Amino acid sequence: MSAYWRERTVLITGASSGIGRALAVELGRLGARVGLLARRAEALKATAAAVQSAGGVALAMPGDVTLLADVQRAVGQMEAAWGGVDVLVANAGVARPRDPFDPEAVAALMAVNFQGAVNAVGAVLPGMQRRRRGHLVAISSLASVRGFPQGPAYSASKAALSTYFEALRVRLRQYGIAVTTVHPGFVDTEMTQGAGWLPLIVSAERAAVIIRKGIERGKPTVTFPLPAVLAMGLVRRMPAGLFDRVVGRVPPRED
Ligand SMILES: NC(=O)c1ccc[n+]([C@@H]2O[C@H](COP(=O)([O-])OP(=O)(O)OC[C@H]3O[C@@H](n4cnc5c(N)ncnc54)[C@H](OP(=O)(O)O)[C@@H]3O)[C@@H](O)[C@H]2O)c1
Repeated sequence: MSAYWRERTVLITGASSGIGRALAVELGRLGARVGLLARRAEALKATAAAVQSAGGVALAMPGDVTLLADVQRAVGQMEAAWGGVDVLVANAGVARPRDPFDPEAVAALMAVNFQGAVNAVGAVLPGMQRRRRGHLVAISSLASVRGFPQGPAYSASKAALSTYFEALRVRLRQYGIAVTTVHPGFVDTEMTQGAGWLPLIVSAERAAVIIRKGIERGKPTVTFPLPAVLAMGLVRRMPAGLFDRVVGRVPPRED
């Protein structure tokens, strides 16, 4: 598998921190050419430098996934530099604002977590269909399995993302395009900072290795860590009354 990433071109959205940054460095270490997209230009430059010191090649492309033109411009840059995008990792995501009763806050969150991924797919797909190969990867969440009251809009955005990518997996098979949906449990990143104790949390670097191996193996879904997977399997099957009592014990966090 070590040759898998050599010269492969990968667009990672949300590459300025956390899982996106760790994955960029991990793939760079294995020889990938990585296109990095996020809004914070300075942080993106730092990721590019880290990819290069790990042995990879990186292109920092500041942009906002909610703006289709930004994502299309980034894909155009990768096509000009490297001939196309082999793998898309739609990773950009936000957990805030959390107010589930403010329509604008919910729309803003959906615009990044769901529409942002849709924009990225729309930008890379024509090239992948032309070349009849490619791999679309979505970083969803275990939060997609039920409607968690701690983050109603976040849960809904990740459920939409997982459902969309599952359907794409079947639709795009005929074009030779693979689709992988990733469901991480808690990962130690800016998103989880200040959240207090979180069960079974893993480092961004560990998450990156698990995601990288899942992509290499062409898995339809990648879910981790294992104990959280088992717990979520139970939560998924809980009847509504029991689910309400169990998850209702954890107070919602709002800002
Ligand atoms: N941490 C966890 O426990 C956990 C668990 C399950 C799933 N996830 C998912 O993993 C993904 C990565 O999150 P993380 O934990 O690594 O958190 P993070 O460190 O906060 O990273 C989020 C990334 O998304 C980017 N982003 C946010 N809004 C964007 C926009 N409009 N356009 C472009 N980029 C944008 C951020 O960059 P800029 O601010 O520079 O734009 C940043 O690079 C997210 O989809 C998250 O939902 C995280």
